[in-house]
Amino acid sequence: MSKILIMLNVNGRSHEIACEPNTLLLDCLRQDLGLTGSKRACDDSSCGACTVQIDGVPMLSCALLAVSCQGQRITTIEGVAEHGSLSALQKAYSDWGGSQCGYCTPGFMMTVNALLSETPDPTDEQIGAALSSNLCRCTGYVQMIQAIKAAIRAEQQGRAAKRA
Ligand code: FES
Ligand code: FES
Repeated sequence: MSKILIMLNVNGRSHEIACEPNTLLLDCLRQDLGLTGSKRACDDSSCGACTVQIDGVPMLSCALLAVSCQGQRITTIEGVAEHGSLSALQKAYSDWGGSQCGYCTPGFMMTVNALLSETPDPTDEQIGAALSSNLCRCTGYVQMIQAIKAAIRAEQQGRAAKRA
């Protein structure tokens, strides 16, 4: 199959990539751009490990063609750190043991970041609904949810400190 040139904006940078029309966004990110943070952990678009944000919305990169993402703003886990420092959510995951093997963690973070961008102070039900699109086989979700709530508190304290 002949390759076509596409332009992708990933983590704020434009990339010109020659890819086949049926290349999945996940493969393009991992193989063409070397962004291996997004994982493949299933064969049927059911685990969420490959989640990235497309224009701020969490989407499965294993279920999207790269060519269909031209002109959209793609954010991967590699684009989450703030000025080279861990984001509040990344720090809370580390502090609270929110990941074990870590394979699911990038996907969860992209999902939770999107939730917190839309809803900075979500209810337990909203957190549960957001997490329902991602699977973790290790943690039992307890520490993960503790980490998410710690990140929410840290963000609230940060906003309060700025207002003071
Ligand atoms: S790799 Fe499992 S949903 Fe994409
Ligand atoms: S930490 Fe291992 S699958 Fe979630």
